[in-house]
Amino acid sequence: MNAGEEDAKLYGNRFLTEDAPDGPFPEKGMPSLDAMRLVDEELVLEGDPWRNLATFVTTWMEPEAQRIVAENLHRNFIDHAEYPITAEIEQRCIRMLANLYHAPGETTGARTQGSSEAIMLGALSLKWKWKQRREAESKPTDRPNLVFGGDVHVVWEKFCRYFDVEPRIVPLQEDKYVIGPEDVEPHLDENTIGVAVVLGTTFTGHADDIAGINGLLLELKEKRGIDVPLHVDAASGGFVWPFLHPDSEWDFRLEQVRSINVSGHKFGLVYPGIGWLVFRETSDLAEDLVFYENYLGKTDATFTLNFSTGASMVLAQYYNFVRLGREGYTHVMKAMEQNARALAEKLKANGNFELIGDGAEQLPLVAFKLAGEKDYDEFDVSWQLSAERGWMLPAYTMPPNAEDVKIMRALVKETLGRAQVDRLADDIDEACETLAKKGGAHASERHSVKRSPGY
Ligand SMILES: Cc1ncc(COP(=O)(O)O)c(C=O)c1O
Repeated sequence: MNAGEEDAKLYGNRFLTEDAPDGPFPEKGMPSLDAMRLVDEELVLEGDPWRNLATFVTTWMEPEAQRIVAENLHRNFIDHAEYPITAEIEQRCIRMLANLYHAPGETTGARTQGSSEAIMLGALSLKWKWKQRREAESKPTDRPNLVFGGDVHVVWEKFCRYFDVEPRIVPLQEDKYVIGPEDVEPHLDENTIGVAVVLGTTFTGHADDIAGINGLLLELKEKRGIDVPLHVDAASGGFVWPFLHPDSEWDFRLEQVRSINVSGHKFGLVYPGIGWLVFRETSDLAEDLVFYENYLGKTDATFTLNFSTGASMVLAQYYNFVRLGREGYTHVMKAMEQNARALAEKLKANGNFELIGDGAEQLPLVAFKLAGEKDYDEFDVSWQLSAERGWMLPAYTMPPNAEDVKIMRALVKETLGRAQVDRLADDIDEACETLAKKGGAHASERHSVKRSPGY
């Protein structure tokens, strides 16, 4: 035992004077208290989720929900035979979501790790169903394509690359950041496995013209006999629109919408690690994608890309559904929206910024950019704000063909009460004042600005 270890026995934490293990697999262990302190200390300089205005993901849950999460970490969700109640609770959540999204009858779906897995599975089902239709007509199946806008999350391109589907991406424009039927139409043909649309884009929080695109696809079906399904990526919007804009039709009320994904860990208000995929009807899930296996003596059906995962987040999602109900979710979403509006009004009033897509249906966030010519840009504001107050408020450029447009975006979540909103608006003002006096950030400072829209 060396002197450091000897002292640590008496006074605790030997990493006070030693480097943290970071290369070779440690030969020996350490007392649990030391290990805990080591990890805690490492995390002190981590970004503070309370000041993270970039993320859509939940950063706060009620203590009762946290207790459910903590008490069920030792339960493997996929062990349906051993944990049948958890499996039933998953099914309850799927039924409730199908109801929320106006599914016409019996349906099916899956719990996933997040929207990314749900999108991969939903898009795979589109591909398989298209293949079945083509094979039934003895037509070739070697050139599937998928149509979506440049406003989608990167996972859609990932799907196309991983699963060999041609991506047909509708470019954005300098003043149009969502897509409509006129954009989609030229890209459709008999090899189109589906159209993916977004409810609440990552970039500005707006929705594609889903009803318009549904109308176009209905026309295509009637006039040319080509049945192209719609998948709605409602990663963020799926828990916002039903409560803030209940009369807006984007879900299974529209005939061509066959599947929807939503992130439970975004506006579903659960900590990271849960998403959902819901089909319009049971027949929309391609049967070939379901695996039946004999697991520990029982036949189990699975439709997943992952296998083992914790049960906690499914249980936490169910907790939120029964705890909040429609009324509670509406209350939370309206509170966020009111605070987002308050922030937007303040930013507009100070004259430095203009709002993006003001007045259109949007997630509870503020997307904005600098108004007029300045000696500094949005990336400088992002840097200055983090330097002065530690706020993480991203600046980024839009996807092609709007890549010259720079945007800032602040998520206004439950943790951002009105007093914090006012403080944030003042802090943004002050950051602008500093920049007006000293000019933009140094190149090395700008280098560390958060440049992606955040998830
Ligand atoms: C529109 C959209 N789709 C998909 C995703 C991916 O979701 P997840 O992080 O739940 O996998 C995101 C994440 O921000 C998103 O905004």
